[in-house]
Amino acid sequence: MSNTPASTPRPSEITPEAWYLNRRQWMAGAMGLGLSALLPGWAGAAGTWATRPSRFSTDEEKNRFEQITQYNNYYEFGTDKEDPAQYAGTLKTRPWTVRVEGECEAPRTFDIDTLMKLAPLEDRVYRLRCVEGWSMVIPWVGFELNALLRQVKPTSRARYVEFTTLADPRQMPGVRSRVLDWPYTEGLRIDEAMHPLTILAVGLYGKPLPNQNGAPIRLVVPWKYGFKSAKSIVRIRLTDTQPATAWNKAAPQEYGFYSNVNPEVDHPRWSQATERRIGDLLRRKTLLFNGYGNEVARLYQGMDLRKFY
Ligand code: MTE
Repeated sequence: MSNTPASTPRPSEITPEAWYLNRRQWMAGAMGLGLSALLPGWAGAAGTWATRPSRFSTDEEKNRFEQITQYNNYYEFGTDKEDPAQYAGTLKTRPWTVRVEGECEAPRTFDIDTLMKLAPLEDRVYRLRCVEGWSMVIPWVGFELNALLRQVKPTSRARYVEFTTLADPRQMPGVRSRVLDWPYTEGLRIDEAMHPLTILAVGLYGKPLPNQNGAPIRLVVPWKYGFKSAKSIVRIRLTDTQPATAWNKAAPQEYGFYSNVNPEVDHPRWSQATERRIGDLLRRKTLLFNGYGNEVARLYQGMDLRKFY
């Protein structure tokens, strides 16, 4: 990741957010009329889903669909912010399986369509703070990771969770470069993974995830820098030791295992005190734990967050 300041994505002519709100109103109307029975599998119009709201959503102004989908980090498709939108379209997201294994009693390979029915899908409007100094507000559709982990019955030795993402050089031109040691891997402590804020996202703005945002399934951990939120996951492994992570291997002084958003702990090459919300002109103050401290600060009680960066 570079330290170039966040640039503004191209302005858009369309307003998907308005479209999204209209769809929600339509759904609400349909259900009020008792028409929900006519909606197969609760699926809404044009292949979209009926989702339920979450108490964890922020009511801050959401970034526009095209800001969220045209300004991405997905190095498997190139290192420029525009590369994923340009090149990820060809990623084949069906069939797709996620293997869940390691320190658990019931390891299992889940087909993506089975996985998506494990728990009710929720709207989760989260802030995402990238370690590079920009941020967005993103309306994800997803479910809590703990719902999946419970299915495989973790043993008492499961202290960490490792996430491995697809690295297919035939589909992903960036994997031929040596910018990272592929596949992209990430990790969480088990209590972080089980926390209700930690979700597997399968959609945004009420529709399936665009490939550049990590289709068909990606992690979202809103109190950590964006790179923890691994895209296009193929394997989840419960472990008794702390897993290696791609960015920690690439630059251990710059990217630690925890990577909690912390305005007081600077990146060695730049300050983390402020951020620019994509679409804004002025920078704003970055909040400890990206503003989710009430929910997660207790996970780190007694830990020196400068040492465990
Ligand atoms: N996952 C994979 N597999 N490859 C990546 O390069 N980039 C990370 C993260 N997940 C990345 C990844 C980084 S640096 C960020 S900030 C977020 O994805 C960006 O997510 P978004 O493009 O949906 O905003």
